[in-house]
This record gives sequence, C-alpha cells and structure tokens, in this order.
Amino acid sequence: MNKKTVADIDVQGKKVFVRVDFNVPLSSKDPNANITVTDDTRIRAALPTLNYLLDHGAALILASHLGRPKTADDRQFSMAPVAKKLEEILGRPVQFIPSVMNDAVRAAAAALQPGDILVLENTRFDPREKKNDPKLGSGFASLADVYVDDAFGSAHRPDASVDGAAYAMREKGGPVVAGFLMGAEIGALGIAVGNPPRPYVAIMGGAKISDKIKLIENLLDKADKILIGGGMANTFLKAQGHNMGQSLVEEEALPEAKRLLEMAADRLILPVDVVTATEVTNEAPAEIEMVWALTPERKALDIGPATLERFNAELQGAQLVVWNGPMGVFEVPQFAGGTNQLAQMLAAMVDHGAKVIIGGGDSAAAVRKAGLTDKMTHVSTGGGASLELLEGRELPGVVALDEK
Ligand code: 3PG
Repeated sequence: MNKKTVADIDVQGKKVFVRVDFNVPLSSKDPNANITVTDDTRIRAALPTLNYLLDHGAALILASHLGRPKTADDRQFSMAPVAKKLEEILGRPVQFIPSVMNDAVRAAAAALQPGDILVLENTRFDPREKKNDPKLGSGFASLADVYVDDAFGSAHRPDASVDGAAYAMREKGGPVVAGFLMGAEIGALGIAVGNPPRPYVAIMGGAKISDKIKLIENLLDKADKILIGGGMANTFLKAQGHNMGQSLVEEEALPEAKRLLEMAADRLILPVDVVTATEVTNEAPAEIEMVWALTPERKALDIGPATLERFNAELQGAQLVVWNGPMGVFEVPQFAGGTNQLAQMLAAMVDHGAKVIIGGGDSAAAVRKAGLTDKMTHVSTGGGASLELLEGRELPGVVALDEK
C-alpha cells in the first residue's frame, strides 16, 4: 500500500482522532432495553491499531457511526454499549461522552492524557455527518493532532468523520494515516484488483444480482471463472430459460443477466442442482432437484451436492479465490449446507497454499458461524466497502490518506 500508516508517524504525547467502524450488531432495537453488543468482531479488528497507539504514548478520541439512525432521538443506536464493550475488551477505562460535537466534547478531548480513551456518540446523531459538512469535519480535526482511519467498513462513505475530518487535519498540518486494519484490508483485497495470482476464481452469492452487476462485470475482466450461487443464481438460471418455480427471481434484472451470460457464458458457472422447499423454514420438507426439472410449487434455497462437486472441480488449482455472498438461506440450518461446505472447501485450499479472501457481510458471518475465520487468508470487515473496492472504485476513506 502506498499510503502512510500509524507505524510511519510519531504519536508520542499526541492526541489521535481514530475513525473506527464499530457499526456492530446489537441485542435489541428497544431504546429502553439493556442493549449489548452481540458480535464484537469489528471492535477486536481495531485492537492492533488502538493498542499500538496507546503503547506509543497517544491519547485516543474514537468516532464511529452505528446503524442508520434518523435523528439523535433514535437512542437505540447510542454508542454507550459499544464503549462499554471496548472497555471490557481492553481491560482499561474508556470514557464515553453522549455527544458528537459540542463544548463538552471539546473539553473532554482537551483534558486527555497519554493512554486515555474517549469514545464519542454515534457520528450519525449529528445531521452534518452524512452531509460531509466541513464544519463538523474541522470540528473533529480540531480535537486532535493526528487523524487515523481504521474504519475500512466505512471507507466508501464520504462522510464528515471519514472524508471532511481527514482533509481538515491535513489543512492544519497534521498527519492523515491508515490504521493497521485499514492497511490489511487494502492489502488483501488489493491482490484481487491489481495483478492477481492465477488461476483466480471468484465466487458470488447473496440474494440480488442488481446490486452486483457492476462487480460481476469487473470480475469478468479480472477473474478466470466466476462461480454463482445463492438467490442471484436463480435470476441467471431463469435468463438461461429454466423454470425457477417459486424461487426468488429479479425479473427486472433478467436483461442484464442475459447480457452477462452472452459476454461470458463459459466463465460464469451456475448451479446444476438446488435444495428446494415450499417454505423457508427448518421444518419444511427439503428436496434436491436439478435446475432443469424444478417442481413449479417449490423454491430454490441452497445449492445442491452436484453443484458443490462442480464448484470443487473449478476450484482445483486456483491460486486466488474471492468469495462474496452466501450460497443459500444460511440463516436456516437446513439451507446452510452449501455455504458451510463451500467454506470447508476453501479452508482446505488455504492449507494447500491458495489465497482465499472473504468479502465482508453475510459471507464473513457464515465463515464465522462455521468457525473457519482463522483458516482463511483474509476475512474482510467491510461489506459495501469491500464490494466497491472489488468493483475497482476508489474509496473516499482511502483516497484521503497521506501518500508514503
Ligand atoms: C457497514 O456495515 O457496511 C458499514 O459500517 C457501513 O454502514 P452503512 O452501510 O450504514 O453506511
């Protein structure tokens, strides 16, 4: 990576504003409930940066968004439980301030001593965050001497805490650098966008192709093969002329699916069999059906064993695999087999020297559920950000960083 990281600068005795992505799942949507963090993966992912800065004598001001609150009254999105979780994980005091930017925040930041940690309230509680209002950006920059972006998951959002604050810090002469997580993400996903080792196989899943048409097009340029599963495969299969019964099909995306198949039918590998049921429940009787003989009353909810075998054959010898999106409705155990077996297959490939990169979101959750996170070369913490990077787009949060 040609961007500076925290390791390239001196932070001793400095106040460091760290944009983290602590947009984590919570236990309840009820503002009156005792809300806790149910998955702390994103918090733990920032620890190398936070510990490095603390060990090197910095004081930290941490900012993140959490969920998509409409106003500051959406208290269920308060960062309070996140600050508490961080304190638990770090085993040292974390001060939480229930405001994004006001005199109390300025006073708390001014009083920080090396080793202190201050967590601000949800940046999206301030309407200026999403508007990238320069006043809020320069407000954040005014709290600190250094700006660090470790929020890879938010790098595609040109918000005040991601973009404006970085430029405001540069304007006042302070360093604007990446955290270690940001560096690791760009490094790992960058392998797939730069000059990938070959054969390079991409695996795409998830419900919709409409969100991923650009990504698939870009991957067709880069990858040798693209294996397609999950709900999006139904739209491709229908575009090929199969009757997909009651399966989820994006009718409006059929022309795009046809176009992509015309571009590269031999490199887009689709399911040959699927697990079907009439309902998406664990109790509904499931069957394996070939895609050309689907019962009209049933819907495809997972890839079948013959498809897994085909995918396995296509993956043999691959040097790089990038996987984004589950192969079926993996939240329901009887439709999780395809996703889990694929995860096992990929973990075994890493043992044999292949690089396997998991795009964030649902595929990262599936790999985590299967207990295979540590087996993969890299599991991204970014959902939309990893997709945009793989699409070949520049991410505002990365562009803003100082060059080496
Ligand atoms: C994510 O979870 O993908 C990031 O935190 C960005 O969240 P957003 O899609 O609400 O901007």
